[in-house]
Formats: sequence, structure tokens, C-alpha cells
Amino acid sequence: MAALVVKPEAVKKLRNLYPWLYADEIAETHGEAQPGDLVEVRDTRGEFIARAFFNPGSHIAARLLTYDAAEKINRAFFETRFAQAFARRANALGHTNAMRLVHAEADQLPGLVVDRFAETLVVQFRNAGVEALRKEIVQALKRAFPAQGAYERSDTQARLEEGLEARTGLLYGDVPDEIAIYEDDVEFLVNPQQGQKTGFYLDQRDNRRLLRAMVGQGSRVLDVFSYTGGFSLHAAKAGAHALAVDKDQIALAQLEANARRNAVGERVGARWGDAEKILEELVEEKRRFTYIVLDPPTLAKHKNDTPPAKQLFTRLCKNALRVLEPNGVLFLSTCAYHIGVNDLIEVTRIAAGDVGRRARVVTVTYQPADHPWILQIPETLYLKTIVLSVEGN
Ligand SMILES: C[S@@+](CC[C@H](N)C(=O)[O-])C[C@H]1O[C@@H](n2cnc3c(N)ncnc32)[C@H](O)[C@@H]1O
Repeated sequence: MAALVVKPEAVKKLRNLYPWLYADEIAETHGEAQPGDLVEVRDTRGEFIARAFFNPGSHIAARLLTYDAAEKINRAFFETRFAQAFARRANALGHTNAMRLVHAEADQLPGLVVDRFAETLVVQFRNAGVEALRKEIVQALKRAFPAQGAYERSDTQARLEEGLEARTGLLYGDVPDEIAIYEDDVEFLVNPQQGQKTGFYLDQRDNRRLLRAMVGQGSRVLDVFSYTGGFSLHAAKAGAHALAVDKDQIALAQLEANARRNAVGERVGARWGDAEKILEELVEEKRRFTYIVLDPPTLAKHKNDTPPAKQLFTRLCKNALRVLEPNGVLFLSTCAYHIGVNDLIEVTRIAAGDVGRRARVVTVTYQPADHPWILQIPETLYLKTIVLSVEGN
């Protein structure tokens, strides 16, 4: 097995359990290694640090898998990691048959994502290392997470950056076009072939429950960036009326089908189009809502995207506050690692100041237990939500 010798200044972070070695932190390479090969990572005295996936074409040249020199990377290794990941989640997610079983680096499995939707697994192989070991991984999946079938959705940007082509299709077994999942008493149909990402945004489960606990009969909910209606349906089940906004027409059709399935079709409406524009229209129309959710896509993929993303957040928030009733509640989420809680605080403070409304922070929430946040890996904290109660009008 080839070996990478790490520059002295990068050794400490690896020993402190940070799993990424950047290309410019490698002092020397011993032996031949292809993208996706396993390599040993050593310090300049030759001491073993870890075993890792190697990809010289990526700016993250090595992704650490194990610090145990004796541990072999084979089917049994993946089975053990899968069992550990499951143990972390077991009993932490409440009443649902849909969960993220494996969340890549946060479960010590760099680049591997596995979601369960009822009896179906949806899998992403995001880097050359997991791609090279896909046979062993699939064997381990079958043993650790028995399911009716598995579908691959390796159509991620990360994969392209690794020099791999997008890949989607049946991995094994039978996979229905539509899968019925439940979150508490709300049912959703998930389409793993055509839906966004793996088919459903599991990571907003706890915030949907939080909204559900707040709304009552007659509440009016504006669900901006709704996708297939996660927030709208939970709110409608509690008696609220919801207006969902998204630019994905297929997702909105699915939302309407989901609403009928839950017998709340009459309380859920949808508007298709650009969220910023629709918020402007709602201001013009003098509409008012008791609860507003803003759950945009990752607006800042790189650090440089942060200033324009914050400006967009501020504009969205300002118009949301203009249509929020006195003492109404605003949920603002970001799933961008580069936009932190302090940024959410800053943009909402600027927006509330501009429209002259006093806001009280109800809570700040983070991603749920099936999307672990590892203290030593700052990048694993990505989903943050600020919830504000807003006075005045
Ligand atoms: C993070 S997902 C929302 C997940 C959703 N809240 C849920 O609980 O399932 C972001 C959504 O924003 C939508 N979107 C992206 N850009 C948009 C835009 N400019 N206007 C409206 N919707 C947009 C996407 O289609 C996607 O459904």
C-alpha cells in the first residue's frame, strides 16, 4: 500500500480526529497510488497515523477512514461502521420509517450517504474511495440494513469534483417509483428516482415538529421553499392553512398529492415560481401569515458566496416580516456550512430593523440526530435555524 508523508504542521489536526488532508499538506508520496486507492498516512518519522482514501485529483487528497493500523478495510469493516451508525440513531428519531442511516464523515464513512425510506435504501457514493469499494459496501449494506431494494443517487456535485461521472440506477432488489413514508401521523410519498437529492429532506424533521407544536386551528402558514410540503403538511394536520412556494413544479405536484393523501387538501395551496418574487407579490397583495418558514437551498457553496447569500437572505426576511402578523413567528434556516448562526442573527436583525419590528429569539436549532455534528469536524455542522417571534406590524 502506498504511503503519504504528512507535513509536520498538519499532523496535529489529523491526530485530533480531523479527517481531511489537503493536497498541499503532503510532504512526500511513497509508492504508486491511483484515485480511490487506500493509502497509509504517516508522519515524517514514519509513524502510522491513519489509513485513508486517496485522490490526487481532489483538493482533499486523503480522507481518513481508520486510526487503527490493524483494521482491514473490507466488508466486515463497513458492517461494523454501519452497526455503530445505527446505534447512534436508534430511538432518537421518534415515530418515523425514514432516516439517514449513514452521514458520510460524520459517521466515519467519508463520502458515503445512505437514507432509508420504509423498505428502500437510497445510496450516494460521493468520492473515488467509496466508489472503488462499492462491491464490499453493497454487500455490507445488505447484511446491516435489510431492505427490499436499494437505489443509487450518486448525482452529486462532490462526485464531479472527484473526477467521477454522475451515476443513478437500481443497486439491487425492487425499488418502487413512489414510497410512502411517515413522520408521526403525516404521510409523504417519496420518489427516489426523480426527487431532489435522495428524494426527501429528512434533516428538517425536528423543525417540522416544532412548527406543528406551535400552530393551531386557523393559523396561516407560509412555507417558502416548500419542496413536497414537509412544513405545510405538518401544519395543516394541526388545523392550519398553508401556502407553499417552490420553483420545482414536480415537487409542488407531489405536495398536492401528499396533501390529499393526508386529507388536508383543502387547507394546503401552492404557488409555483421564484421565492423572492412571490414574497414581493404577497407584500403587494397585503397578505398576512401567522407563521412563515424560509428554508432555502444551499445559497453559499463556497466562502466567497457568503456576502451575496446574506444579502438575499436579508431581502427574503424583510419581505417575510412585512407579511408576518403581529406576534407571528418566523423560521429561517440555512443548510450552508459557510453561513453560521451569527450570520442568521445578523441578517434577521438587519431585516427587522429595516421594517421597524422588534423580534424575540424563541430558539436556535441544529440538524437532527441522524445527521450527526462532530465537534472535531466543523464542516459536519451545516443546518442551523433561528426561530423568531416578531412584535409590531
Ligand atoms: C432545502 S429544500 C426545502 C425543503 C423543504 N422545506 C422540506 O421540508 O422538505 C429547498 C427548496 O427550495 C427550492 N428552490 C430553490 N431555489 C428556489 C427559488 N429561487 N425559488 C423558489 N424555490 C426555490 C428547491 O426546489 C427546494 O425544493
